[in-house]
Amino acid sequence: MSGVGSTEPPRSGGAGSAGAGSGADFREDGYAAVDWAARYLERVDELPVLARVAPGELSARLPASAPEQGEPFANVLRDLDELIVPALTNWQHPRFFAYFAVTGSDPGVLAELLCAAMNQVAILWRASPASTELELRTVDWVRRLLGLPDGWHGHIEDTASTSTLAAMMVAKHVTGRNVIVCSEHAHSAADKAARMLGMELRKQPADADLRMSLDGLELDDVAGVIATVGTTSFASVDPVRELAQRAHDAGAWLHVDAAYAGSSWICEEERWSADGIELADSLVVNPHKWLLVPVDCSLLWTSRPADFRSTFSLVPEFLRTSDDVDSLADYGPALGRRFRSLKLWAVLRCYGAEGLRAIQREHMRLAGLFASWVEADPDWELCAPQRFSLVVFRRKGSDEDNERILERANASGEMFLSHTRLHGRYVLRLAVGNARTTEDDVRQAWDVLNREAER
Ligand SMILES: Cc1ncc(COP(=O)(O)O)c(C=O)c1O
Repeated sequence: MSGVGSTEPPRSGGAGSAGAGSGADFREDGYAAVDWAARYLERVDELPVLARVAPGELSARLPASAPEQGEPFANVLRDLDELIVPALTNWQHPRFFAYFAVTGSDPGVLAELLCAAMNQVAILWRASPASTELELRTVDWVRRLLGLPDGWHGHIEDTASTSTLAAMMVAKHVTGRNVIVCSEHAHSAADKAARMLGMELRKQPADADLRMSLDGLELDDVAGVIATVGTTSFASVDPVRELAQRAHDAGAWLHVDAAYAGSSWICEEERWSADGIELADSLVVNPHKWLLVPVDCSLLWTSRPADFRSTFSLVPEFLRTSDDVDSLADYGPALGRRFRSLKLWAVLRCYGAEGLRAIQREHMRLAGLFASWVEADPDWELCAPQRFSLVVFRRKGSDEDNERILERANASGEMFLSHTRLHGRYVLRLAVGNARTTEDDVRQAWDVLNREAER
């Protein structure tokens, strides 16, 4: 046994170096792990973007049971290269343009390592004063950067799905009603929340601009309305101000899902899409989408913190203390909470607001450039206005043609795009969101799409 820790695994024949973090082994393995991570990130652009494995291929190569005897950590690193990397879809690749492209930035990656080293389980304030207070402060930093109202309470959940579930649970609790309303283009997290909470979901049609239509909107028996700023398929923006007014007149809760686009409010010129946000009862924005924080990090604010507490606060005897402070577990479903604010803190400090704005503006410029190529080419068409860093487009022709182009382009390994449907038609989406993406990458994606279209 080495050092102060006693969690070291038994060693066998010189193997075993996954100790308590206090010895030479930890340093050596740690340096090797950081080295591995650095090499992975340096050469990620040489790897195929989309994994080239068949379902079950990795499973067939993994042992059915865990080892009886401990192995050196070096074996794990070796198997990363041999087993894991071939089965990765490389989200850190500069030509990852699918879904909403993301960035696990260097400071965020390193903060994850430190987070695991400290292994804080912030079930209540005294269980981790650092996690609790850094979370409150960093989420408030982001609130200020996004121009959100003073006095809102914010905390961190894992994902927007959980944040929206939590908000709808509060809506149900405070209104005593059982109906959720959202647009036909809202994220499926709304469907899942409704299902988990046993609530009815009513989908409101969208107008010609893909915004939730107000026509025929009846909210008298509604618990919660979910307005989306930056829909997943088209980045369209629901009329938050009108929806908030209508919801409040009917006694309903207004939750805003700005999981992707909300981060863009750090740029003054994007605040048009925040119109009416000050009227929201709750709001979710994911820094793990467009603020360079590695997944998972979802910020959930509310202007009605007492309603969150009355919904979620549940203090069993073993958690009672004399500390006169809120526990962040009183604002959502989870009791044990990761020290997620550490990576948010690291990213905000290392990039600064200016650095983050510069990256987002470049992403929006690149998306605009791609949209201009589509518009200028008679063989292609834009299917929705370019908003934020998303372009929705298609090759003029059949759905099958577009599906084939996408399949072939993705199979080339040179880029990865995803699709959606608009008015029943198959359309392609290019989402810029990786900090490594350059104009050359966007140009290459365009060239690959044209090459595959002409084949
Ligand atoms: C608008 C919107 N809301 C919610 C989600 C779900 O996010 P998460 O994966 O954090 O649950 C997404 C994911 O892309 C999204 O685009």
